[in-house]
Amino acid sequence: MSKKPILEVRDLHVSFKVQKQLLQAVRGVSFDLYEQEILGVVGESGCGKSATAKALVKLFSPHSTVVKGEVIYMGSNLLDYNEQQIQKVRGNELGMIFQDPMTSLNPTMRIGDQIIESYLHHTKSVKNKEAREYAIQLLELVGIPQASTRIDEYPHTLSGGMRQRVMIALALAPKPKLIIADEPTTALDVTIQAQILDLMQNIKKKTGTSFILITHDMSVVAGYCDRVLVMYSGKVVERASIDQLFKNPAHPYTKGLLQSIPRLDMPTDHPLIPIEGSPPTATESITGCAFCNRCKVSLPVCAKEDAVLKEKNNGHLVACWNEREQ
Ligand SMILES: Nc1ncnc2c1ncn2[C@@H]1O[C@H](COP(=O)(O)OP(=O)(O)O)[C@@H](O)[C@H]1O
Ligand SMILES: [Mg+2]
Repeated sequence: MSKKPILEVRDLHVSFKVQKQLLQAVRGVSFDLYEQEILGVVGESGCGKSATAKALVKLFSPHSTVVKGEVIYMGSNLLDYNEQQIQKVRGNELGMIFQDPMTSLNPTMRIGDQIIESYLHHTKSVKNKEAREYAIQLLELVGIPQASTRIDEYPHTLSGGMRQRVMIALALAPKPKLIIADEPTTALDVTIQAQILDLMQNIKKKTGTSFILITHDMSVVAGYCDRVLVMYSGKVVERASIDQLFKNPAHPYTKGLLQSIPRLDMPTDHPLIPIEGSPPTATESITGCAFCNRCKVSLPVCAKEDAVLKEKNNGHLVACWNEREQ
């Protein structure tokens, strides 16, 4: 992997304005994304994964949401872009895939026409015939059988898995450098989920596209990511390579997530232990470490002061006061 970040996120904060109050959903997230990597973002529901993803491409209205920090792409801060500027980047250089394909697909348009439109919008000099061939190639790449005839079908004629593939083809059409995939397979059954995730890995290899893969599911991270950010209550509590994460997890929250999923490297009778309690909501004010009240190895300091991310070794970062337990 070359060590050139394509995206640098610095101290990202996202707060929602609700009834004259500001609810903090993301509380100072920083990370780099490198070329040709799949960066996983994992954590339970409500920990700020989607808010982070949406803020990266300015999907929030400034009337309802306050976003602070920096998202550096090609040398400039995307958060300073106006709507017209960000529209050129969003969906073009930075693609997006969401859980429900029907939110991105137009039900009244043939799937091929949607891909062609997206491609022509960004590559104006190409002829229609060429664009159609490109769309067929993309549908083949994402594993749509009989792509040259399926190209003229409407989204509703396709199964959920096929629609998700079409949405990936649509996201790939303008040849983005990065695709942000927010729970892209959560609504799909396990076999289709594996196929779609395999597909994303193949695309990374074939086209060099990087992915930010957001999931609440540690087993998705295990199979498909190169590096991982573990998020809890709007913060990154651990950053690790996939190897570091599974061989040497450091944060008690990460360990808890790992204990709650079935693992190939454990005996089959290994008990699955869910983490007790639930994450704080955005309305709760937090003092100290947000995980403290669910943590089995907390120290007196944890309730008073938040731990900051520190390097454990070789790019492995963890935010936890209890160094003995790491
Ligand atoms: N539009 C919104 N208005 C108010 N609160 C929101 C909004 N979107 C998300 N939140 C709150 O922000 C927190 C983070 O949400 P989200 O980023 O969607 O979590 P995740 O994707 O990790 O499940 C949650 O507490 C959620 O209830
Ligand atoms: Mg989400």
